[in-house]
Amino acid sequence: MAGVGRKSRALRVHTFPARCVWCGENPAGAARFSVLTGGTRANKISKQCRPERRHILFRPRRSCCAARAGSTVTSHLLPTYARVNLAFERGEGAWLIATNGDRYLDFTSGVAVNALGHAHPRLVAALTEQAQKVWHVSNLYQIPEAERVAQRLCDASFADVVFFCNSGAEAMECAIKMARKFQSASGHPERYRIITFEGAFHGRTLATLAAGGQKKYLDGFGPVVEGFDQVPFGDLAATKRAVTDETAAILIEPIMGEGGVRVVEPAFLRALRELCDQRGLLLLFDEVQTGMGRTGELFAYQRVGVEPDIMALAKALGGGFPVGACLASSEAAKGMTAGTHGSTFGGNPLAMSAANAVLDVMLEPGFLDRVRQTALRFKQRLAEIKDRHPSVIAEVRGEGLLIGVRAVVPASELVDALRAEKMIAVSAGDNVVRLLPPLIVSDEEIAEGVARLDRACAQLGRARRTPRQEEAVR
Ligand SMILES: Cc1ncc(COP(=O)(O)O)c(C=O)c1O
Repeated sequence: MAGVGRKSRALRVHTFPARCVWCGENPAGAARFSVLTGGTRANKISKQCRPERRHILFRPRRSCCAARAGSTVTSHLLPTYARVNLAFERGEGAWLIATNGDRYLDFTSGVAVNALGHAHPRLVAALTEQAQKVWHVSNLYQIPEAERVAQRLCDASFADVVFFCNSGAEAMECAIKMARKFQSASGHPERYRIITFEGAFHGRTLATLAAGGQKKYLDGFGPVVEGFDQVPFGDLAATKRAVTDETAAILIEPIMGEGGVRVVEPAFLRALRELCDQRGLLLLFDEVQTGMGRTGELFAYQRVGVEPDIMALAKALGGGFPVGACLASSEAAKGMTAGTHGSTFGGNPLAMSAANAVLDVMLEPGFLDRVRQTALRFKQRLAEIKDRHPSVIAEVRGEGLLIGVRAVVPASELVDALRAEKMIAVSAGDNVVRLLPPLIVSDEEIAEGVARLDRACAQLGRARRTPRQEEAVR
């Protein structure tokens, strides 16, 4: 163990006759100042910069001073996220208010989580009321709030049964286990393999990483969980070829979210359903991102009319409270008997009160119609913006309020430019910027978002033009 993660080594304080390696200044105004050392130059910082008693220091994305570049440097949090140096202390509907009082238009919604926006009064009331009753009881007892959410989800979908958990990856784990168990309970324990698609994202547990098959996420984490066969996105012939006597199921996101808002053709989903029926396979939909109204239907599969056997949900289901769910037909779930799966927190009364409040709002007549109308108007406006800025935007795609803007410039530059306009968006694969406003976004807020995108694109376009080109534009 010697030398592995030695805390004391990372925390030793030394004095150095040097400038802070991050900000290039001498904040102490003295010839020497204290630094924390982690053994390398990259782990030194002036003592004044320390927000807390001790911290880990991370190299910012850019080589210049982190404070100036606006990227994070110090934290006790494990550095698995490239965080921007921006914190929010409040939210109101589609707006986030930063700690310095600046108001940001939130077109990320916590990556498709805050479907009802921030601090929705119905969610706040439901959670407040439940918090005064009971937060958590073990799944060894009846949980009426969970029964109610399950009943409502089943009434609104293909499903007969629901398993509750706390995240998308857990919902997917349940889906994977259930598919294998179904085959085993059907007398085919040898059928355990699942066909997945290149570019997919299903979560960060070992099995869901293997399902996604992305090398950059799997690298260094040891042997990849066995049993996933990846085929090219949208390639039916390759999918058919990949089916063997060991195949249990096919797993797909109806719209690839993290992979770059790539919409799967309805005909392809229909063909997968047929293939599954012919070969005794289960069809699994990962609707963690597409689910709960995001596409203008409660579930994206309803847009196409192709039903899965198992479906994973999370993100918007709790409106910001961590809730995941695995829905299934009773046939697909037949192997999941008492003791085969579990989650301590899954479906506890507090989480379920949030999910019930989300459903109260989303199932109200007209809610999804409004999402569809808003999305249509938004996409029309985005098409105009694309035409105005061909040097910045290559394509606008997606369904409902799950919108991908494929950029000509690096997507991260467009995200940064939007943030400079006080609007937050999130990048995805294929050089795409996702625009995911809350589903309650107003027409005025959509117009405001479009105006900010227009300004961000104009700024990026200007930055890329030579002075001569700029002159010609004027
Ligand atoms: C389609 C899809 N599946 C699964 C996940 C994993 O969800 P979580 O991060 O809640 O584990 C995500 C997260 O982005 C997702 O987009």
